[in-house]
Amino acid sequence: MLRSTDYKGVNVVEEDGAEIFRLISGDPNIYEGGWDTPRHMKDAVVKAIEDGYNMYPNRLEGLDTRLTESILSWERRVNGVQYAPEEIIPTQGVAGAIRLAFPHIMEPGDELLLTDPTYIPYKRIGNTLGKATFFRTIEEEGWTPDIEDLRRKITPKTKALVIIHPQNPTGCLYDEKTLKAIADVAGEHGFPLISDEIYGLFTYEGARFHPLASVAGDVPVITMNSISKHYVATGWRIGHISIHDTGNMIGELKEKLRADRAVAGAIPTPLVYGAMAAYDGPTDHIRGMVERLKERRDLSHRRLNEIPGLSATKPQAAFFIFPKVDDGGPWRDDLEFTRDLKAETRLAVNPGSFYGEQYSVNHFRIPYLPGIDPLNRIFDKLEAFMKSRLG
Ligand SMILES: Cc1ncc(COP(=O)(O)O)c(C=O)c1O
Repeated sequence: MLRSTDYKGVNVVEEDGAEIFRLISGDPNIYEGGWDTPRHMKDAVVKAIEDGYNMYPNRLEGLDTRLTESILSWERRVNGVQYAPEEIIPTQGVAGAIRLAFPHIMEPGDELLLTDPTYIPYKRIGNTLGKATFFRTIEEEGWTPDIEDLRRKITPKTKALVIIHPQNPTGCLYDEKTLKAIADVAGEHGFPLISDEIYGLFTYEGARFHPLASVAGDVPVITMNSISKHYVATGWRIGHISIHDTGNMIGELKEKLRADRAVAGAIPTPLVYGAMAAYDGPTDHIRGMVERLKERRDLSHRRLNEIPGLSATKPQAAFFIFPKVDDGGPWRDDLEFTRDLKAETRLAVNPGSFYGEQYSVNHFRIPYLPGIDPLNRIFDKLEAFMKSRLG
């Protein structure tokens, strides 16, 4: 039986016996009051193992084609986007998709244009292969992209632009107009878009998520997605790339990705059966998740804005909130703030500057995945800490 001490969840007993609240990970599997992988997916994996499907995946005639078909029908049914089989590449999660795609997109000297803030691995891969450059997202407008600043940040070296939609770490859901504006800019300058849509089904108050590919027209979009969050299966390492390229502008890139897909790693055979159960199966559990997440979002938003020295815009999607630490505290920057917070209260959070370089600074990220009780205890600690520091 799984014990909370087996994983780095919200309550981890440190060696000295003290309780530390780790609010670092966006993994819905690991928090008190969290979720578990849907039953039908687990059953499919266990059945595959019991039935002897334990050989190399490429030894099973047609398995890859069947997985691709399941992903295709999921994209059509859930996202309303139509792809051809050769436009779908199964990967080991979005992490595998990143590992596969970016070395074919960038080389030294190239620039990868990112929102500030962005998801940390995009900043890292941009700086590993070339240079990560950032454009502003506007906190006062719920962290929507500043299209004028985006235009200013494009150079002849810009190779691609990444959006995370819905956004980690801010919870911003881009509307159709914003997505079209981003696509227009990419179209004018002739570079492809990369859209990470791993949180697409977690939206609140009925807000509609538009896959970027559905509004991008003939601008090429490489969409990255996975079952990690929607199906509470982070450890299964299953995801996919979908390539939207109606004008065949990135045909060569598409061929390279297909040829090199082994780099992304094969999905273990029994888990392919679990993946097909996910992609072909119901999405009912998501409604329940969203209901409970909305409660946690509302609580987090209210409590954070009641704490002196902190303010936070209301996330419309995903499960993160990105509060701002107002000027006037004793900290030099967000790194010092988060270090002080951890030392004093044993509450560990990621500092905002990990996620960008300018607009992320003096923020921190909270995944509001824990239940109402642990969240309240966390905000009590944060409140006491801020009051003590601000006098
Ligand atoms: C925006 C975003 N993309 C990708 C990932 C990782 O995805 P995967 O588990 O599919 O590798 C995460 C996980 O936190 C994420 O927040």
